[in-house]
Amino acid sequence: MPKYRIAWLPGDGVGVEVCAATRLVLDACGLDAEYPHGDIGWEFWQKEGDALPARTLELLERTDCAFFGAITSKPAAEAAGELAPELRGKGLIYRSPIVRMRQMLDLYTCLRPCRALKGNPLNYRDDIDVVVFRENTEGMYIGVEFNQTPACFREEPAMARIPKDAAISIRSVTRSASRRIVEAAFEYAVKKGRRKVTAVHKANVLRATCGVFLEEAQAVAARYPGIEFDTANVDAMCMWLIKNPQNYDVIVTTNLFGDILSDLCAQLVGGMGFACSGNIGVKYAVFEPTHGSAPKYAGKNKVNPLASILAAAMMAEWLGETTAARKIVRAVEDVVEQGAVRTYDMGGTAGTMDIAEAVAGRIGATLKA
Ligand code: IPM
Ligand code: MG
Repeated sequence: MPKYRIAWLPGDGVGVEVCAATRLVLDACGLDAEYPHGDIGWEFWQKEGDALPARTLELLERTDCAFFGAITSKPAAEAAGELAPELRGKGLIYRSPIVRMRQMLDLYTCLRPCRALKGNPLNYRDDIDVVVFRENTEGMYIGVEFNQTPACFREEPAMARIPKDAAISIRSVTRSASRRIVEAAFEYAVKKGRRKVTAVHKANVLRATCGVFLEEAQAVAARYPGIEFDTANVDAMCMWLIKNPQNYDVIVTTNLFGDILSDLCAQLVGGMGFACSGNIGVKYAVFEPTHGSAPKYAGKNKVNPLASILAAAMMAEWLGETTAARKIVRAVEDVVEQGAVRTYDMGGTAGTMDIAEAVAGRIGATLKA
C-alpha cells in the first residue's frame, strides 16, 4: 500500500494538462502515493447539474489530501443555459467547486506564496518574496445573495436606505475565523523565520466586518512580540505593493481582498504561471495552481505548468515530505534560472510537457548525483 492517497482532480481546460505535467514531477521525486481520480468540472455541471458530484466528495473523505487543476466557471445565467435539457428549469445553481470544497472541508487558510525566482525575466523586481494568507471560508464568499431586496430586510430601519431593486451580497466576518487566519499567518512567520506580518482591511468603510477582522488581528499580533506587525487599508496596499513590494513579507487578509491581492502579488513574480495555492484546514488540504482553466489554451500544451508544479511542492511539504518538496523547488529554480526551456509567457516556445520533463529531469539528475 502506498503511504499516501491523494485525490486527483484535474478538472477541465488546462487543468488537465498542468495536472499531467505535475504527475510527471511527483513521480520523478518518488513520492510514495496513489492518485485516485475524482470527477469534477464543467462537464459534470452540464451532464449532472453538479460540477462537484457527491462521489467526489466521498473520495475526499477517503484520502489524505487532494490536488486540483482548474475548472471553467461562468456567470449564473450562462451556466444555467448550458445544462442538459432535462436538467433545465429545476432551479439548479452553479457554485464554484473550489469555493465549495474550501467551505465544506473548512480549509480556512488559503496560502499563496509569491516569490521571485532567480532569472525569471517576468519578475517585477528580483527581491520579492511575499506570502498571502487569505481567509478562505467566509467574507464575501458565503454565497448569501439576493437579486432583489428581500421583504424582511426592509423591516430593519437601516435597511430602508437600500433601494427595492438592489441586488445584495452579504459579507459575513466572524471573530473566530479572523483569529485563526491571523494565527496561521503568525505561526507561519515564526516557523519560517519571517520578519513581518501585515493585516490588510478596509475598516474605515466596512466598519463592522473589517472592524472585527482588524481587532482580532491586533489581539493576535500582541501575542507575537518577536514579529513586526503593521496594518494597511486594501486600496493603499495595492499601491504599496506596486511601489515597494520588497518591503512586504507575510500578508493576512479577508477572503475577497485576499483573492484580489494574491493576483496582484502573482503578477509581481511572473503572473499566474507561477502562482500556487494551498487550501489548508486542520486535517485536510487541497493544493492547486491559482490560475483558472484558460479555455482558449485548453489542449494546446501551451500553458506554464510551474504554478501547478510548485503547488505539488507545497503539498509534499504539508504531507511532511520535506525532501521531496525541496527537490521540486530546487529543480524548478534550476530550470527557470537556466532559461533553456520556457513557455510562451516567459518568451519561449516550449510546451507544458517540455517544462515538466525539464523539471523531472533535473530531479532525476539530482537523485543520481
Ligand atoms: C481563486 C479563484 C477563485 C476564487 C474562483 C475560481 C472562484 O479566483 O482561487 O483565487 O475567487 O477564490
Ligand atoms: Mg482569484
